[in-house]
Formats: sequence, C-alpha cells, structure tokens
Amino acid sequence: MRLYTVLQLGILLSIALVIFYLYSIRLLNNSENYIEEELVEVNNEVTTERITFTKNDIVVAVVACGDRLQETLNMLKSALMFSKQKLNFIVVSEDRLIESFNEKLGEWRSFLNNGFTFRVLPLTFPSDNPLEWKKLFKPCAAQRLFLPSILENVDSILYMDTDTLFLTPVETVWEHFHTFNSSQMAALAPEHEDPNVGWYNRFAKHPYYGKLGVNSGVMLMNLTRMRAFKWKEYVVPIYRKFKHQITWGDQDIINIIFHYHPDKLFIYSCRFNYRPDHCMYTSVCKPAETQGVAVIHGSRGFFHSEKQPIFQAVYRSFEEFQLGGDIYREFYQPLEVYLEAAQNNNCGNVKDIFLKNIRKYMDLEFDNT
Ligand SMILES: *[C@@H]1O[C@H](CO)[C@@H](O)[C@H](O)[C@H]1NC(C)=O
Ligand SMILES: *[C@@H]1O[C@H](CO)[C@@H](O)[C@H](O)[C@H]1NC(C)=O
Repeated sequence: MRLYTVLQLGILLSIALVIFYLYSIRLLNNSENYIEEELVEVNNEVTTERITFTKNDIVVAVVACGDRLQETLNMLKSALMFSKQKLNFIVVSEDRLIESFNEKLGEWRSFLNNGFTFRVLPLTFPSDNPLEWKKLFKPCAAQRLFLPSILENVDSILYMDTDTLFLTPVETVWEHFHTFNSSQMAALAPEHEDPNVGWYNRFAKHPYYGKLGVNSGVMLMNLTRMRAFKWKEYVVPIYRKFKHQITWGDQDIINIIFHYHPDKLFIYSCRFNYRPDHCMYTSVCKPAETQGVAVIHGSRGFFHSEKQPIFQAVYRSFEEFQLGGDIYREFYQPLEVYLEAAQNNNCGNVKDIFLKNIRKYMDLEFDNT
C-alpha cells in the first residue's frame, strides 16, 4: 500500500515535471518569436534610415498596392527609357507585392548594368503612434502623406501615381526644383484648366488650392522643407476636421493644406500631369500643344478602358516594349500605329502631342551619333 502511493506520487510528479518542461519551452519559444517580431520592426526602420542619397540624386517614389504591380512597373520602365541621368527608385508596397518588385527590378538592374538603384519598402507609419495612423486612413492611400517622416534621410523625391507614364526624361520634371523660391516645398499641376468643367470649384465642400484645385498624381516634394514645415502635424487634424467632406482622399488633404499655405506650392503646367480631362471635350492644355506632353496620367482607370483609346494606346506601347530594345522600332513606330487607329475622338485630334517629346528625344540621339 505504501509502496503503491510512493509510485503514484512519483508518476504524478514526473507528469507534472514534463508538463512544466513543455510549458516552459513554449514560453521560451513565444518570447523568441516576440523578439523576432521586434527585430523585424526595427529592421524596417533601419533599412529606411539607411537610404541616403546625395543632393543631386534623382529619386522617383511610388506607393503600390492591390492590382497596381504591372502599372507601376510600366511607369518605372518609362522613367528608365528616356532618362540620361542615373535614377533611384523607392517603391513602397504591400507585403505581398514586395517580392515581385524585387525580382523584376533586380532583373532590369543587372540587365542595365546597374544603371539605376532601387529600394522596395513595406508600408510604414510614423513610429510615434503607428496604430493611430493606421486606424485613421486606408493604409495605401495615406502612405504618401507620411513620406517626409518615413524617408527621413532623403532630401527630395518625385512622387508618381502608379497610373502615370513619362514621355520625357525624368530630369525635365526634376529641374523644377531649381526654380523653387525659398518658401516653396512642393510642385503640382492644376486639377483643371477650365472652370466650366472643374470639379473642386463646382462640387468641393472643403477648402482647396487656388481657383480650381491641384491634382496630386505627379508631385515634386522637397522632404527637407516639408519636415521643416512640420507637414505631418497638419495631416491628422485636417483629416479629422474634414473627413466627411473629402472625396479624393490624400489629394483633398493636400489641397486643404495648400489652401492655407499657397506660398509653399510651385505650380507647373498641365503638360507635366496630362489627363483625359485635358482633351476629352476640347483641348484645354495649351502648353502640351506647343511643347508636347511630358507626363501622361491615365487617371480614373483610363489606361485600361476603351473609353479613351488614345490613353489606352500609349499605355499599351509601353507595356509591349522590352527594356533595352530599340526605342524607335519597338516603341515609337508601334505607338504611331496605335495612335492612328485610336484617333476618332477628341483626344485623337491632338494625338501628336503624345509623340512630340519622344521625337525630340530621338533627334537628340541622332545628334549625338
Ligand atoms: C530642398 O530644400 C533644402 C532646404 O532648403 C535645400 O537645401 C535642398 O537643396 C532642396 N533640394 C532640392 C532638390 O532642391
Ligand atoms: C514664392 O512664390 C510664391 C508663388 O508665386 C509666392 O506666393 C511666395 O510669396 C514666394 N516666396 C518668396 C519668399 O518670394
């Protein structure tokens, strides 16, 4: 009887020991996981912090989520096609797209003998209160508003929407930085040229920049000056105050900020952010007629819709072009053919404005040889 009890006790004790052992291993593992997560967070910050460029470096930044992978790659391809200066890309993207971006851009980079640099970063919010930022906005739409604080060692960027394409070297847009006066910290194109069809002047229930508002699709941002202005501290209060009135997300917030600080904004011409609105009724962007479109913006899905065949034709020509190919035969000539076929509409009446700068680029090429 006594022996039996001792045995029983012994077994119970061993079981307890085993349970305790297993439990402590789990605890340990959990804390390791926890540490790992912490490290990942810290690493993200380290990578962003390590981005340093010199003052003269051209940096093109884009935020890509959802189904925008291909569109974004086309925009970056168009940047590489015409630029003479070495470019640097910053792609901020959802986790599930990061690998695809790294793969394709890595491929292009070795193919072009390291002719450009790139960084693909996860969506990140300011470290002082990340949860609050995430709760306030849809993560991807809000990301660009926080770039001044996230890219804290970067002086300046050219921020591009994913649905834009360069028809000139990136340098021609970047050059505007040199014409900023001492108070300007960003450059944008007007949302409209014609008050009769303008959106902000007819529908907006919140303040906006100037007479017709600005479009945020192609934005030069001097991050150094935006940080000095304390840009981040304007964003959330403005969002809180106007969230029920805003329609176009981050673009409206940008319009509201510059409504109160018009001296901080440089306005460049519509040819640096050319949208279907500029030709769908009549041609309203006169600088594009004389100097050609520099950046085309297929806003509201017009690169992918039959409704604006000219915009679809331009997008298709970039999509079909293989980087490193002959720009004249494999890009320019097909583009001419597609534009010809797409010309039976108002934008078709001005189809040459989309070819003008590419022609100019190729003439320069001929001059050099
Ligand atoms: C941005 O502004 C800072 C501070 O005024 C200036 O030093 C820097 O050169 C500007 N960057 C560009 C690209 O113009
Ligand atoms: C810079 O230009 C803007 C727009 O023309 C103007 O409102 C602002 O006063 C100028 N700033 C300086 C310091 O001249």
